[in-house]
Amino acid sequence: MPPVPTILIINGPNLNLLGTREPEHYGRETLADIEAACARRAAALGFGIDFRQSNHEGEIVTWIQEARDRTAALILNAGALTHTSIAILDALRAVDMPVVEVHLSNIHRREPFRHKSFVSLAATGVICGFGGIGYELALEAVALALGRERPA
Ligand code: DQA
Repeated sequence: MPPVPTILIINGPNLNLLGTREPEHYGRETLADIEAACARRAAALGFGIDFRQSNHEGEIVTWIQEARDRTAALILNAGALTHTSIAILDALRAVDMPVVEVHLSNIHRREPFRHKSFVSLAATGVICGFGGIGYELALEAVALALGRERPA
């Protein structure tokens, strides 16, 4: 049997605080809740997940670089680094795989500084505004991008 492909899911700064942080924007789900839901959805789609969070830009850049050899696709919520990090953009441009940008909130309904995304310049597609469900939608999008069938 071929090995189960792994999808790397990276969460950026402050996303470790989900559940208590600005629930009017980010809801009441914790990052652990989202990870569990992603693991279930990925298993149904025939994937494994590697779910991570970091508050450090350089660590995220390193994880993206390492993804080149290890993962089939990348789902990224870079938090505030979305709007500032050319280093993350450059790292994304160096990987050749589907990249889905996710945001819990609809960044386009919020402050103007959140409307610009460096991640979008390298992403295959963007999902925002659906809360934690956005991660599961991103897994579905990855499955389609990798040419997998939906489960019956
Ligand atoms: C976020 C939106 C960003 O603007 C913000 O800095 C975050 C979370 C989201 O998931 O909605 O930390 O990426």
